[in-house]
Order: sequence, then C-alpha cells, then structure tokens
Amino acid sequence: MLDKVLSTLKADHDAALAELFEFMKFQSVSADPAHGGDVRRCAEWLAALLTRDGFTASVEETGGHPAVVARWQKAPDAPTVLVYGHYDVQPALMEDGWTTDPFEPQLNEGRICGRGASDDKGQLFCHIAGLRAHLRAVGKLPVNVIMLFEGEEESGSDNLEGYLVAKRSELACDAVIASDTAQYTGGRAALTYGLRGLTYLEVTLTGPNRDLHSGTLGGVIANPATALARMVGLLVDESGRVNVPGFYDDVTPLEQWERDAWAKLDYDEAALAAELGVTDLFGEPGYTAVERMWARPTLDVNGIWSGYTGEGAKTVIPAVAGAKLSCRLVPDQEPDKIAELVERRLRLSCPPGLKMEVKHLHGAKPVLLPSEGKFVDCAKAAVGAAWGEDPVFIREGGSIPVIETFVRVLDAPVVLMGFGRPDDRIHGPDERFHLEDFHRGMEASARFW
Ligand code: BES
Ligand code: ZN
Repeated sequence: MLDKVLSTLKADHDAALAELFEFMKFQSVSADPAHGGDVRRCAEWLAALLTRDGFTASVEETGGHPAVVARWQKAPDAPTVLVYGHYDVQPALMEDGWTTDPFEPQLNEGRICGRGASDDKGQLFCHIAGLRAHLRAVGKLPVNVIMLFEGEEESGSDNLEGYLVAKRSELACDAVIASDTAQYTGGRAALTYGLRGLTYLEVTLTGPNRDLHSGTLGGVIANPATALARMVGLLVDESGRVNVPGFYDDVTPLEQWERDAWAKLDYDEAALAAELGVTDLFGEPGYTAVERMWARPTLDVNGIWSGYTGEGAKTVIPAVAGAKLSCRLVPDQEPDKIAELVERRLRLSCPPGLKMEVKHLHGAKPVLLPSEGKFVDCAKAAVGAAWGEDPVFIREGGSIPVIETFVRVLDAPVVLMGFGRPDDRIHGPDERFHLEDFHRGMEASARFW
C-alpha cells in the first residue's frame, strides 16, 4: 500500500510544484495592513484547493487574518493528528536585494526561489501533497487529520490563542505536527525539540519640539540620538552578555547531556563565519555557537533611527530617536517579565528632559518538547526513510509562538519535522527551498501518516 502511495506522490511532483508556485504568488504579508486582501485571497485559494483534494475545508475567522482549517476524520479508532503551518510570509521588496521578483516564484539551479518557498508555504505544502497522495492512491487516510494553517505567524500569532481556546474541543487531537523549522547544517535530517521564545520592544525618545541647530543649541539639552545610542549600548556588555539586571534569573542551564550531544554534531563555526561573510563569530563567552543559537538568550537591536542620514553633513540635533529591540528567550524566561526588565534598564539611563515611550510588541514563550514517544518515533522513521539517514535531534534559535499554546491548550505532544535548511535565507532576499527537500519533505509526510 505504501508503494502505491509513494508512486502516486511521485507522479504528482510536477503538479505539486506548479500549485506551490501559484500559492507563492499571493503576497500574503501579514505584517502589512495594505496586504490584508492578499492574505485573505490566499486563505480562500488554499481552502478551495483542500476542498478539491477531498478535505472539509473552511476559512476561519480569528479576529485577525483568517486561518484555514481542513479536516478528514473518517478513521474511527485511529488517532487524530493536527498539522500546523502558516501561509503568511515576511515582507519582500525587489530593493531589498532580490535577484528575481519575490512573488514570481521560479526554479533556479534546483531551488524553488521566492518569498515563502521555505518559510512556510513550501514546507506546509509537503503535508498537503503527502496527505492527498494517500487519498488519491487508496481513497483514505490511516489516521484522522485536522490541518490548521494560520495567516499571522510572521506577525506574532496574536489572535490564534483565542481561537484555539474557543475551539479547543473541535481541535482536540493526539498530537500536533509542524514543519516550519530546518534540517541540521548541510541538509542533514533533523527533528527539533526546542525553540527559543521572543519579546519585542519599540522605544522612542522625544526631546525638543523640532530639530535644532547643533551650534546654537548644542550643549544645553540632551540629544535623543546620542542618548538612545548610549542607552541601547548599555544593554549588552563588551563580551556579548546581556547587561540587564535579572535577565538571566529564570534561565534553565544547559544540561550536560545536551552539551555532549551537540559537541558530537561537530558544528563548523568557521564555515558559518565564511558563509555569513564575517571574519569572526561573536557572542556570550563560555558557549559554543550552537549553544548560543539554540539554548542561550540574547538581546538584539533590530532597527534604530534618528536625525539626518542623507548625503553630506547637516548640523542638527534631532527631535526624536527610536529603536526596535528584541530578545530571544529560553526556558523558563517569561516574555512579559523580560520586557519589563529591559524597559526598567532603559529608563534608568534615560537623561533628564527626554520623554521615553516603550511599546511592547509581540512575545512568544520558549518551548522544550519531548524527544521520545510514539509520534516522535513515527517522525524519526518517516524522515529517516526519506533522507536515507537517521535524523539528529536539535533545538532551534527561531520562534513559533503557537507551539507553546498547543502544548498548554490542546495538551498534545508537538513534533517539529523541519524540511528547510539553515541557509534557505528565510526572511531575507532570495529565499529558497531546495527541490530535493521539497521532494523528501513530501515523502516524509506521506510515510509519517
Ligand atoms: N519558521 C520560522 C521560525 C524558525 C526559524 C524556526 C528558523 C526554526 C528555524 C518562523 O516563521 C518565524 O520566523 N518566526 C518568527 C516569530 C516572530 C515573528 C513572533 C521569528 O522567529 O522571528
Ligand atoms: Zn518566518
């Protein structure tokens, strides 16, 4: 039976790629209100595709961008698995440095290129293809399936928790599977058992009621740009450790078994530096790069602005300065608590005469997931067969806010089966997904069921 499913899947490769291209053409950028219509049209397209493929699908209102839910629940006595993915994408403009139009997907040198190729349209499509191969080959699925594809992951999944709580009983399941992570370096099969969390702040410093001449008035008031640079600079020390009182209080230290296991992964730090085009890696002392990426918290400036940045010189004291800051969090740090601590530290160093405003943008809790159990075993076998090698168990530095909500609200084990690669350039220009990974991902999905 599996042979028949896999040969049906293979015969579907080209059609699946063409449909993925259609899917990627929607500019479903959740962060930008101007793309609200595109997000909704993408959801409608996805629901129509899933209906055609034999699922009971609908576009579901969440209060924000809609989610798509599709079901096939005709296997009494078999477990129910919820498949999670997101059809929204990060913004992408040609001027960000794309070589081809981000929303005109194409195949270049064995890679699917375009926004969402890997994060997460290509990966979620692997499950659609893997599931429908069963329906097409044998007319049924071996398990019950609920697909939940959301439209707000890239902007923090603000409305999904409310939806999950309201629909808890309709979404009851024995396990959740999500493919929105990556393989280990170099295309090595991996399952992910930990994600970092996130807390995101925007700080604005306002000084005089207008930009001033820096000669006539320089020296009599605090300069918002100078102050902000200093305040932000103080948040991380020269060694790379976060310098916010209380920041590390709730950090669960790395376990020795993890450090040993990760050391065996033999991560090539020099290769990473070379790939990133830097002469040296840098970060908190006492930890390897992998440990810092997967299991240590950070504080980063994501953007900073003030004053004159055009050609030549303009002698001005800017009226306003602003910065976007975010922290990646590890168990058991709490996003709200960390945001408070950072805000307090900033306030302490804000000079007199400046007004400081802080907005708390989104947060996500860190998670650690089981690395054993029935569903993990299935994922291990499925990925192992599709990749031709046993997967390694890794953690990831990125965040998927709803994963922690699944654990808490649905009380189900979550398996993260990532088909992307660390160098897929997600969120950046020229995002891509290897065609080979698309094929292997579809196969792993089909085998998992
Ligand atoms: N797919 C990523 C998360 C990810 C990235 C997992 C790399 C593993 C490796 C996800 O779509 C994402 O980008 N999440 C955001 C969440 C945020 C906007 C709340 C992130 O991590 O920045
Ligand atoms: Zn993303």
